[in-house]
Amino acid sequence: MTAVTTTTADTFRPALHYAARNTWLNDPNGLIHHAGVYHLYYQNNPFGNVHGNLSWGHATSTDLLTWTEHPVAIACDDDEEIFSGSVVFDKLNTSGFGTGTTPPLVAIYTSAYRQGSAHPGIQAQSLAYSLDGGYTWIKYSGNPVVDRGSANFRDPKVFRYDGDGGSYWVMVAVEAQDFKVVFYKSHDLKSWELLSSFGPANATGGEWECPDLFPLPIDGDPDNLKWVLIVNLNPGGPNNGSAGQYFVGNFDGTKFTSASTVTEGLQDPARLAEYQWLDWGRDYYAAVSFSDAPDNRRLMIGWMNNWEYANKIPTSPWRSPMSLVREVSLRTIEGNLRMVQQVAGDLTSLREKGPSFSLEAVEISDGQHVLDGAAGSVQRIDLSFAPGNAEEFGIVVRGNGVEGTRIGIRPTEGSIIVDRRESGQTDFHGSFASIDTAPIQTRNGSYELTIFVDRCSVEVFGQEGQVTLTELIFPSSSSSGVSLYAVGGTAIANKLSVTQYA
Ligand code: FRU
Repeated sequence: MTAVTTTTADTFRPALHYAARNTWLNDPNGLIHHAGVYHLYYQNNPFGNVHGNLSWGHATSTDLLTWTEHPVAIACDDDEEIFSGSVVFDKLNTSGFGTGTTPPLVAIYTSAYRQGSAHPGIQAQSLAYSLDGGYTWIKYSGNPVVDRGSANFRDPKVFRYDGDGGSYWVMVAVEAQDFKVVFYKSHDLKSWELLSSFGPANATGGEWECPDLFPLPIDGDPDNLKWVLIVNLNPGGPNNGSAGQYFVGNFDGTKFTSASTVTEGLQDPARLAEYQWLDWGRDYYAAVSFSDAPDNRRLMIGWMNNWEYANKIPTSPWRSPMSLVREVSLRTIEGNLRMVQQVAGDLTSLREKGPSFSLEAVEISDGQHVLDGAAGSVQRIDLSFAPGNAEEFGIVVRGNGVEGTRIGIRPTEGSIIVDRRESGQTDFHGSFASIDTAPIQTRNGSYELTIFVDRCSVEVFGQEGQVTLTELIFPSSSSSGVSLYAVGGTAIANKLSVTQYA
C-alpha cells in the first residue's frame, strides 16, 4: 500500500475517520467483521472524486479508528455499476461458492445495469464471492439473482435469520420510489422468495435507500429483544437533505411490524420531529451495520456527507469521509424505546497530542470566552452544562475570532443546535451554511455533550447518545480555538475536558 501523505493543501483529511486516499466515496457497503478484521467496503469511483463509475472500494481496520486502504474489491464494467449492498460469511457454504474447509464470504450488491447491457436501466440484486477472506472477489455467473424488472430496486442487506420458522437468509432491500422495504428469503443466497413489504410510513420526503434490519436487546436484557428497521431517505431529513430514520418493532421471520408508524399526513414537515432519526445533522447518511461484530455489538457507520452538496465539498484529491463507527443500543426513555449511540472505537488507545485541558464549575457570562490551552483540530470534548438565564449557551470549536462552529443549547426551546454558518468555507453550495436543530432535555438539571472534532467534521452526542448531530465543516487551518459562550445571560459549565489527538 502506498502511504497517505497529508499535504499542506489537504488540511481537511481526517485523522480519526476513514477517507479514501485520492478518490470519491459514498455509502458504506458490505460491513463485516471476519477473521479478526473489520472490513469496510464502500461506494467508490476508482477514477475520480465525484459520484460515478460505482465500484466497491475496500478498507480494513482492527481498532475501528485506523484504516488501511486496499485495491478496489468489486469493479464496475461495461454492463453494470456496483451499487450498495452487504456481505455475509456463508459458514455452511449454503451457496456452494466455497468448500467445507473454505467457506466463502458472499457479497450481495445491486447491479445498476447500463443502457447498453442485457437489462438496460434495471436495478437487480447480484452476487460475488471471496475465498481469501474478502480481498479478491469473483462475480457469480448466474447474476442477477433477484430481478423485479424495476429501475429502483436496490441496496440489499442480508442476514441469517434463526427463529421459530426456521433458519435461512433474509434480504431487506428497497423499492426506493414507492417508499417500501421489501423482504426476501433464501436457503442458498441464489434463489429468493418474496416474503412481505413495509411502508410507506413516517418520513417519505425522498427516496427510501439503504435499509437494515437487526435485533437489539431492550435495556441490555438479551432475553428481551426488539427488531430495528433502518430506512435511509434522500431528501426529506429533519434538517434537509439526506438522513436516516428507524422503526422499532417485531420481525417474525416473514413480516416486520412496528407500533411507531405514522401512515397519514406523511409529507407534513411539522411531523418530522415525531419520527425517530438516527442523526439530526446534515451529514450522516446511508448508515448500516456490521455483520458478525464481536460480542453481539451492533456497530454502524454512516457516510459523512449529504446528496444536496456531496459532489461539491472542497476536499481534494479525496472526497467524503465516513463517520466514526458507532455502537447502537435500545433504551427505554420516558416509556419509549429509543436508539442510543456511542463511539465504538477506543480512543484511549490513541496517542494524545499535547496536554488535555479541563475545568469545573465555571460561570459563563454573556459573550464568547476563549479557553487558552484548549485549541486543537482533532479532539474529543466532554462537557456538562447547567442552564442559567441565558437564552442560548454552548461551545465554539475550530474558531479564530471570526469563524467558528457553534454547538449550543437553547433551554427554553428544548433544542440543541449546530450552527455552521460561520464555520469556514461554505460558499461551494447554497444550502451548506446552515443552523440545524434537534430536541434535547435536561437530565438531573444538566445537559451532557460529547463532541468529536476531526479537521472537517463535528459529531455531537447529546445526553449519552440519545441525540446525535453530525456535520461537515471546512475551517481555515488556523482556526483551532475553543471557546464557551452565552447569549443574553449566564450558564454554568459544570465540567469540561478536552483531549487532543494527532
Ligand atoms: C445512497 C445510494 C444508494 C445507491 C448508491 C449509489 O446514497 O443512492 O441507494 O445504491 O447510493 O451510489
